[in-house]
Amino acid sequence: PRILVLASGSGTNLQALIDASRERDFPGQIIALGCNQPKAFALERAAQAHVETFVVNHKDFGSREEFDAALMAHILRHNPDLIVLAGFMRILTTDFVRAFRGKLVNIHPSLLPLYTGLNTHQRALDAGDRTHGASIHFVTEELDGGPVIAQAEVAVAPEDTAETLAEKVQEKEHLLYPIVVRWFCEGRIQLGREHVLFDGEAV
Ligand code: GRF
Repeated sequence: PRILVLASGSGTNLQALIDASRERDFPGQIIALGCNQPKAFALERAAQAHVETFVVNHKDFGSREEFDAALMAHILRHNPDLIVLAGFMRILTTDFVRAFRGKLVNIHPSLLPLYTGLNTHQRALDAGDRTHGASIHFVTEELDGGPVIAQAEVAVAPEDTAETLAEKVQEKEHLLYPIVVRWFCEGRIQLGREHVLFDGEAV
């Protein structure tokens, strides 16, 4: 399977996927990285790994629709089987999401359905949560609301700040994303009508 990654920032999740894809038995290939930020460090990580890159800068477009159409054209050119959002900080239009239904996954730094949107670590701290974590989900029309594929938990310590919590969560993300991408490439995970199917069974 052909994997295309979209990122906006430092790309530590991209790096985890690149590292995993180098394992001899990894079932997929990272064929391209797309970025909306021309200065994203993720671009350097991809170049280093000889992964093709493209930039579609949202600032060059007058509307979300036009940006998404341009992004979609780039993606279609690469004919991916899976599109992995790894810190891609743009909300995608309904048309875009529908076009790639069942092929589009995202990682979100909270235990969904808790804390969709931004500032998840601070919000978990403010709520006094004892556990926090990351979720990988299929992307559907609902922001951060598509069916969850897998989650990783971390314990919240009394001395944790948003920064220390972010570090703990990211460490888990780097373990979890490669596992989920591997499962997808092995054909073990599918988006059913509303649920995730794992080995053909609803989870
Ligand atoms: C991750 O924490 C992810 O959950 C969120 O954005 C961050 C991306 O980090 N959506 P990186 O660019 O992979 O380092």
